[in-house]
Amino acid sequence: MNVLANLKWIEAKSYEEMCKNAADIFKEQLKKDHATVFGMATGGTPEGFYKELVTAYKAGEISFAHAKSFNLDEYIGINPSNEASYHYYMDHNLFNHIDMNRENIHVPAGDTANLEKAAKEYDAEIEAAGNIDIQLLGIGVNGHIGFNEPGTPFTLGTNVVELTQSTREANKVYFDSIDDVPTHAITMGINTIMNSKKVVLLISGESKQEAFNRLRSGIITEDFPASALHNHPDVTVIYTGVK
Ligand code: F6R
Repeated sequence: MNVLANLKWIEAKSYEEMCKNAADIFKEQLKKDHATVFGMATGGTPEGFYKELVTAYKAGEISFAHAKSFNLDEYIGINPSNEASYHYYMDHNLFNHIDMNRENIHVPAGDTANLEKAAKEYDAEIEAAGNIDIQLLGIGVNGHIGFNEPGTPFTLGTNVVELTQSTREANKVYFDSIDDVPTHAITMGINTIMNSKKVVLLISGESKQEAFNRLRSGIITEDFPASALHNHPDVTVIYTGVK
């Protein structure tokens, strides 16, 4: 492990090891505070991480009965029952298998009429919960965190964003065709993410090499959203398949 600016960097030997390391941090947090407020991410990267949490729950090692969770983002215009929605992803990968109370599970609403209002309420709910204790993040090939695309002001709370072509391309595997990939999403803003007490960022695979290099460079710029994390006091980056 070495330290560049504020970030702690942990290299994992494999995808499985990355997921296990991350899950260990989350399990420790939950054992210390049964009422932990989690920030959750979706995507290909954390699938193995959720498997680890489900296994630990099923083995009786941890319970989510008093915990809460807030997801980073959701596509706009697709229903929670759509298999490509992040609601569906979270139920399928985690929530259907653990004992978190449904009323403590929060995923931004992408199918509501008043999105601006929903975004404001989402931040208010996070604040009312005492802010996120531990936030899981992945990173986009363009350096996005949540769906905060390059150029997003670091000061924003939860908001509605237009997805870049590169993000839509990267995510088209979850849809029948690129035309089916939503053009917009609702996402926690960088400021919402920065209010989390602790952040764990997972980076896996060659396609993330350039994003990894830019994060390593330590240069902070709104053109590279993940660079905001250099201003956060407690970020652990666990990476594999990049160098
Ligand atoms: C997902 C999210 C995104 C992903 C990122 C990487 O909730 O907010 O920032 O973490 O797009 O996605 P994968 O892991 O699919 O490469």
